[in-house]
Amino acid sequence: MTPYGLVDRMIFTQSYKKHKKERTLKRLELFEFEDLHWLPNTIRSGATNLLALLHKLFGTADVLAKIVRDIQDKIDITRITDLGSGSGGPMIDVINQLNKDNSSEPIQLVLTDLFPNQDVVQEINNRKLRHIQYHHLPVDATNISTAPKGLKTMIASFHHMNPVTARKILQSAQDNREPILIYEIAKNTIPVVIWWLLLPISLVILILMVLVMTPFVRPLKWSQLFFTYILPIIPIVYAWDGQASLMRTYTFEDFRSLLRDVNDSNYQWSVEDAKKSNGKKAGYYVVGYPINIVSR
Ligand SMILES: C[S@@+](CC[C@H](N)C(=O)[O-])C[C@H]1O[C@@H](n2cnc3c(N)ncnc32)[C@H](O)[C@@H]1O
Repeated sequence: MTPYGLVDRMIFTQSYKKHKKERTLKRLELFEFEDLHWLPNTIRSGATNLLALLHKLFGTADVLAKIVRDIQDKIDITRITDLGSGSGGPMIDVINQLNKDNSSEPIQLVLTDLFPNQDVVQEINNRKLRHIQYHHLPVDATNISTAPKGLKTMIASFHHMNPVTARKILQSAQDNREPILIYEIAKNTIPVVIWWLLLPISLVILILMVLVMTPFVRPLKWSQLFFTYILPIIPIVYAWDGQASLMRTYTFEDFRSLLRDVNDSNYQWSVEDAKKSNGKKAGYYVVGYPINIVSR
């Protein structure tokens, strides 16, 4: 077996069935404020607005557009359902890019979330973007089999799933022969002890970052300013959730463990570093798609 850490690209095949013994995941089961159902939507969206801005700064849409184009070389994609869309994230820009380049049938995008903020839903739907809609009702990513057919994307949201749910999602995509793309903005490579030791300073840095980034959030609402500069709840939520996300992110090895029993010779899984056009690493992604079948 190829030693983990020495390769960027790993294809998961039947051979992993050999590794039956359960291993401990590096991922930590920490809480995030975003997952608390009682968290006011203003605060949750305040944090996901900042994440959407971070995607713009990092150029995530370009990275994802390239990944989706690569998937299109293997299977036909006419519809994408994004799960855990938050404030929209990078998928709107991805679809605009893909449809601009695409001479054939445009791809339809449906954004969804377990806690859809109706203001965000309305704001995005009012833009009357062709081929893009934000679904106003809650959609739970754990019920992936009930989502419309076509590519499912989970951008910076898969780490919210605990291992049991995570495995179910992967299994469900494979059983239903549906393609799935999971993207995480950062890799969980820091040793846990170092993470704990650096936590106070990391939280302070993230809080300061929020104070600097907030004026660039679009659309910028008074509530975002109020809960940042007057009552700084958004910076605290963003800082903690950002740090917790890092430790909740599944590593390559964790994915190997999750996929160990999720194997089918007619379905291909791969886990790869995501890269910008200049070759710089930009998080990682997991793709699963059926082989020898055209997906619609
Ligand atoms: C870190 S945000 C990512 C938002 C967006 N995809 C982005 O990249 O900017 C994670 C999102 O997942 C949503 N979420 C958490 N658990 C979920 C679930 N079980 N089903 C669907 N969405 C979920 C949260 O409400 C939140 O909006």
